[in-house]
Amino acid sequence: MTALTASPAWQNLTRLATKIKTQHMRDWFALDSQRAENFTQAACGIELDFSKNLINDEVMQALQALATECHVSEKSQAMFAGGIINHTEKRAVLHTALRNFSGKPVLVDGKDVMPEVLACQQKIQDFVASVHSGERKGYTGKPLKQIIAIGIGGSFLGPKIMSEALKPYWFEGVKVHYVANVDGCHIQDILATVDHQETLVVMSSKSFTTQETLQNTLTAKAWFLEAGGSQQDIAKHFIAVSSNIKAATEFGMAKDNIFPLWDWVGGRYSLWSAIGLPIALTIGYDNYRELLQGAFEMDEHFQNAPIEQNLPMILALLGVWYVNFFDAQSHVLLPYYHYLRGFPAYVQQLDMESNGKRISGTHTQIDYATGPIIWGSEGTNGQHSFHQLIHQGTVLVPADFMLPLKVPNQDDIHHAMLASNCFGQTQALMQGKTFEECKADLTSKGLDDVTLESLATHKTMPGNKPSNTLLFNQVDPKTLGALVALYEHKVFVQGAIWGVNSFDQWGVELGKELGNQVLDKLVN
Ligand code: F6P
Repeated sequence: MTALTASPAWQNLTRLATKIKTQHMRDWFALDSQRAENFTQAACGIELDFSKNLINDEVMQALQALATECHVSEKSQAMFAGGIINHTEKRAVLHTALRNFSGKPVLVDGKDVMPEVLACQQKIQDFVASVHSGERKGYTGKPLKQIIAIGIGGSFLGPKIMSEALKPYWFEGVKVHYVANVDGCHIQDILATVDHQETLVVMSSKSFTTQETLQNTLTAKAWFLEAGGSQQDIAKHFIAVSSNIKAATEFGMAKDNIFPLWDWVGGRYSLWSAIGLPIALTIGYDNYRELLQGAFEMDEHFQNAPIEQNLPMILALLGVWYVNFFDAQSHVLLPYYHYLRGFPAYVQQLDMESNGKRISGTHTQIDYATGPIIWGSEGTNGQHSFHQLIHQGTVLVPADFMLPLKVPNQDDIHHAMLASNCFGQTQALMQGKTFEECKADLTSKGLDDVTLESLATHKTMPGNKPSNTLLFNQVDPKTLGALVALYEHKVFVQGAIWGVNSFDQWGVELGKELGNQVLDKLVN
């Protein structure tokens, strides 16, 4: 037994889980008309209704005790203060400094990082303004209207998915295309649709060593030269975002065209840095700043709100409850908003690359489950495919439903349908349908007793399936920033409880090495 599983809070939760498993949420709602109200909290434009979970006050208090025993709050203070909490890479973890609007310094090794952060934000602002105004031109004097953003993992998912989510805020006249995969089909498809004279390539790679990004940029460069651009014209059409300024310069990027980031920004937490430049190009700098502002407000909430009202804490503790005490192996995210359709893929990297770990801070193998499989897609599509398993399958899949109350085309019947489906699903998962209810429905159908009983068995829905509902007034830049930061801190809290380092990713290295060895054999 590890210290965590032997701890009084863990033991208490094990006992409570046994008790809860004999009860049904349906009965709790019938007995307590205030349940939804009692288990709802709101902050930063996000209302979290967590009443449809397998919890009561006693469970929530026991989960909070676990967070206290695991020193979550002390660990988060260390993160915000620039402590070297990424201990295997000996780095601070300070994506929060990139959206720090408090005016207070943030120290790493005694040096305030804020002046550099602010200088970079100014550089982004100026750059976006010069592209949007047409002042920055391509080598033939044409304005830059097509942006090809090349990057992968954290240097791709954040920019692409947040830009997609903010479609109603897009700046007219500039189109951003995203490329990640090294599969040449993608970059070639994009290159075929744009005019090289009005194309700007933004290459984003924190390390500047990532095979896919380097190759896609080389391909774009070769295309540019072949189309008529010269070597001297490259500086007008190619820029880079990287913490490896040396490699970027050696690659041929003009020094002025390199936007910096720092080793204390993890790749999957980097959209707040210049990695977010394509977002700013898509929605304009003012909107981009709002995105950062929303994240900053969630940071403040996370640091200051009491644990029982603290949204990241609540989401994280509920997740731990299901992973460790109900053997849930996955968690589904269901945004009921087309523009937020990429959000599950974003959280997938954030969560699985952070907490997909098996070694604790004491460098020993742990004996409990850590990060679940994160998956999902936009509603209502999943209702006509994988929801079947969530409703009647044999595995427990906790769900996060997400719904904006206001959307573009508000008067449209479509949104009423979308919203009603979202609420209908959470209710069905919670209450289910008993065998008796199914039988009663079938009695008028004139079936013989055997058929009626067997059909009712198939139709029975166990219910008692947990879900959270996250409601937003609308998905504007600020709310979206808060939403992303909410999940970042959720992941942080879970990592702190499980005692893993949420900020390294050694597991991705071996495959890269072996892939390179195979490549050597294929091309030499
Ligand atoms: O291979 C994983 C990873 O290192 C991610 O953590 C990162 O977001 C991605 O690759 C891209 O890395 P880079 O920005 O250095 O190209």
